[in-house]
Amino acid sequence: RSSRIKNSVKDAWRKRFIQENDNSFELDAAILMHPRVWEASGHVGGFSDPLVDCKECKTRHRADHLIEGFTSDVIPDTMTDEEMINYIRENNIPCPKCGKSNYTDIREFNLMFETHRGVIKDDKSVVYLRPENAQGEYVNFLNVQRTMRAKVPFGIGQIGKAFRNEITPGNFTFRTIEFEQMEHQLFCKPGTDLEIYEHYKEYAKKFFIDLGLPEEKLRFHDHDKLVFYASAACDIEYKYPFGYGELNGTHDRTDYDLSQHQKFSGKAQDYLDPETNEKYIPYVVESTVGCDRLVLALLCEAYEEQTLEDGSTREVMHFKPFIAPYKVAVLPLVKKFHSEKANEVYRELSKYFMCTYDESGNIGKRYRREDVIGTPYCITIDDETLNNNTVTIRDRDTMEQITLSLDEVKDYIKEKIEF
Ligand code: GAP
Repeated sequence: RSSRIKNSVKDAWRKRFIQENDNSFELDAAILMHPRVWEASGHVGGFSDPLVDCKECKTRHRADHLIEGFTSDVIPDTMTDEEMINYIRENNIPCPKCGKSNYTDIREFNLMFETHRGVIKDDKSVVYLRPENAQGEYVNFLNVQRTMRAKVPFGIGQIGKAFRNEITPGNFTFRTIEFEQMEHQLFCKPGTDLEIYEHYKEYAKKFFIDLGLPEEKLRFHDHDKLVFYASAACDIEYKYPFGYGELNGTHDRTDYDLSQHQKFSGKAQDYLDPETNEKYIPYVVESTVGCDRLVLALLCEAYEEQTLEDGSTREVMHFKPFIAPYKVAVLPLVKKFHSEKANEVYRELSKYFMCTYDESGNIGKRYRREDVIGTPYCITIDDETLNNNTVTIRDRDTMEQITLSLDEVKDYIKEKIEF
């Protein structure tokens, strides 16, 4: 079921960021690329987390997380390693495990996973599992531009796995070592980037709201301290049960990445503007979403333990219909009399949507089973279906039922599950 939810989220992203986004193309780049790609991008030299060990209980922590958990008066992102450890020591920030405050100095730990290419395992054969999708989009920028005859501004998007050797994975799927990103890079003329950047901040926020996250639980976090190549950066954070966490980032990455790849590969990354005959390296505005973090947010948001009018309770997932793993459940009222027709209906509807079929237990229990996995519509097959070709459709959220002719069911559901 969770892969169905993820697939629906990916379909929605694809629709919004590729299909409905003028001049955007989808890519499936390599996970293992030439190691120089990661030198050019700065990941080999600088993609690291600041780690400290508790000398008392020997647990390992991220220094920035210790400070964030202790205060919001300072922003660790803006501090050097020395400033962070001094702050931790001066304020006796306790170890989350043992409560004492006795730490080692900070060590920077690179997050990239390494493996080896070929038969000999030595320094020369090291390759990296990609820690982000974006670089695949940058190194393929000219391939896509030429084959698609794309004119700036245009976008390249990709959904794919990324790998990071996170030291403190946790909070369910919020921070894992293997996760999926949905990333979109917009290549534009220098000078037009800031307007595009503002557009994508709002575009991503609207995407989350349309998926079912309430606006009041989303907030922008504009970065005060920018990485040296970015001219603007902002996260959208969602209020998870464990606190606000980053869902998405919008970054104005200037021409930094393409210039670096030009430098390291020796291959020009210029774009020739056919209208003005100008040659330039485009600027890039990135909009990136963590698919697993988004699925986690949607799960948190959808869950309700509801008390009904008669005092009974039910567990229900209020997914928007296009997110639900199954769109329809087909339920014969009485197995002995109605299962043959119900099977027929199930097979027909399965040609159009993900359907499930359940004939065991009383109808009330079956409704509850569908509520708890968030199936938005239950179709009951009964004597009326056999005699008059009509079915009842129960709405998961309102629990109200309507009667429809069997011929109308497909179009009715189709309309309801559109994104
Ligand atoms: N290309 C830009 C980039 O990778 P990032 O902020 O490092 O930027 C993008 O990652 C998104 O990927 C984040 O906003 C977050 O949603 C998701 N993400 C990052 N690290 C993650 C992890 N360890 N586990 C799950 N999702 C993660």
